[in-house]
Parts: sequence; structure tokens; C-alpha cells
Amino acid sequence: MHNVIISTNIHDTLTQAIAAVEHDKLFLLCDETTRQLCFPLVQDIPTLAAAIPITIGATDTHKTLDTLSDVWTALSQGGGTRHSLLINLGGGMVTDLGGFAASTFKRGIAYINIPTTLLSMVDASVGGKTGINFNGLKNEVGVFSQPRTVLIDTHFLRTLDRPNILSGYAEMLKHGLISTPEHFAALLNFDLDSIDYPLLGRMVGDSVAVKERIVTEDPLEHGIRKALNLGHTAGHALESWALSRQPILHGYAVAWGLICELYLCCTKTNFPTEPMRQAVRFIREHYGILPITCDDYPELHQLMTHDKKNTADTINFTLLGGIGDIRINQTATREEIYESLDFLREG
Ligand code: GLY
Repeated sequence: MHNVIISTNIHDTLTQAIAAVEHDKLFLLCDETTRQLCFPLVQDIPTLAAAIPITIGATDTHKTLDTLSDVWTALSQGGGTRHSLLINLGGGMVTDLGGFAASTFKRGIAYINIPTTLLSMVDASVGGKTGINFNGLKNEVGVFSQPRTVLIDTHFLRTLDRPNILSGYAEMLKHGLISTPEHFAALLNFDLDSIDYPLLGRMVGDSVAVKERIVTEDPLEHGIRKALNLGHTAGHALESWALSRQPILHGYAVAWGLICELYLCCTKTNFPTEPMRQAVRFIREHYGILPITCDDYPELHQLMTHDKKNTADTINFTLLGGIGDIRINQTATREEIYESLDFLREG
């Protein structure tokens, strides 16, 4: 795959990335926030002068069939053909929905992702998962379709508030846990209270390299790509639980999901206690706690059974036997899952 470019000069890299894809019309998709905050950083690039702008509403509530239809309409009315090129400038919502729009318009046109949040840099924009939410279910409809280029410019990191840095950082912690002890230690040692942006930029590169390596081996998630689901079986349930109360950012749910699933790693696949304790300490210190009680356990268990990855009777987890020792297709009983939720609450 190797189509990810870490850039410190978006003018040059984007000009080259556009030139590398033969195209007739060029379209630029933003949401209302990235139009205001991120587009100014690229608007004077000469090759973008001809781009037809498309702007959609910001946040996950707009990741819908109606918005997708608006993007298809804009591509069609703008004279898009099978040889057109779409650039997606935004967070995961824009790159997921824009990637799906591109992959289906005229049976598929080329697209370039320029992720502007830490979460989309290290996860959503890389790996070719595209889609929309449908009938109340997240990412229910979509396709696997690789972008021509993912252009990561770490200047965008400076536009992010602390919760959004932390949200992306949880996926980086996951990448550390599935790679090497050195990578994981570097993440635990990074000072999130006084951010060294050039260092964070280099760490983004290391993090994306972990994901790229796995996706290249298994692009359609038949096997090892499931490693990227670490923390997500519990995390998605916690995220859905919070949705009807006080919504939380995806990465916070992943961080708390990692606590539950590292507990399962220790009890079921012999993950060593010390790195688990370090991870839990780091997550508690930076992400705080989620106010669940034991009355919430049945609902959380039910939400886990609804996850796309699971069947009615088994709940699938990716666990670890140690840092980088990946064990896919593990299951846990209701009792074990309840214990992991006790651990999340009490430590
Ligand atoms: N976000 C996990 C994956 O791309 O497979």
C-alpha cells in the first residue's frame, strides 16, 4: 500500500500528489469546520485554484445517506466523470463519507485524504474503510477502497484542542500495544501536558506505519487486521452507552475499552501485569473515569453482542499475550466481561 506521506510542506506534497493522478475535474470536500480552520492553510496552492468546493455539515450526525446524496449531486452537477479526483480535507467523518462517495460515484473515482484530526491521521484516513451511518448504526454501509494518497501534515495538529488530541492518542496507544515494548514506552513517556509538536509528528509517523503494515498484509480484515480492534469491542459498547446520556469522543471510549480488554488479556492470555498497570495508570490520569455502575452491565453486554464483529452468542475480542503478541478471535463469557467492567470502575 505505502501511500501515506508525512509532510511538513503541504504545498509541495499536495501539488505532487495531485499531479500524480491523471484527472479531468478536481473536487475538494470539507465540512463547515475544516472549511473555516483548515482550508486557509491550502487555499493558495495553485493546483487547487481549479478545484470545485463541496461543503457538508460537521460532526458524525451528518455522516448520513442525505449528506452522501448531496456529495454525489455536487460531483454530478460539477461535471464529474470517471476520471475526476476528489480531495477529502477533514476528520474521520469527511474522509469516511468522502471516500465512500468517491468509491461509488461513476463506479469509483480516485480520492486523496488529507486528515486534519489526530484520530483521522492515525486511524480513519488510512486503510481504506469508507462508509456512512445508517438506521442508527455506525458505519453500517460502506466499502473497502484505498485512497490514492493519504497526506498527513502535522501542522493541523496545532488546530486541535486537548480532548481531540487525547482522542487520537488512544489509537496511538493501541498501535503501541500491538507493536513493540519500545514503541509503547515512548507513548507512555510523551508529555501530553506540554506538547512537543515536532516529536508528536514523528510519533504519528511511527503510529501510522504500524497500521499500514497490518493493512497491507490483510486489507479486507480476514485475519491480522483484527489486531486493530484491540480495545474496540468494549470501547464501542461504552461509546454507544454514552450516546444516550453524555456523548464521549471515540478515543476516550477506546482508552476505557483498552482498560477492560487489558484486564481480559491478563486473565485469559497471560499478558504481564506491569505493562497493564502502566497503561491503566496513564489512561486514568489523562482520560479520567466513565461513570458506569453495575446496573449498566446488562446493557453494555447487549451492546457488545450487537457489534458487527459478533454473532448472537459469542463476543469476539482481540487480545494480547504480551506487547506485540496478538491473539485474534478470542471470546469471553458474560461473567468475564462483567469482571472487566468491575476492573474499569475500580482498578
Ligand atoms: N479502525 C480499524 C481499521 O481500520 O481496521
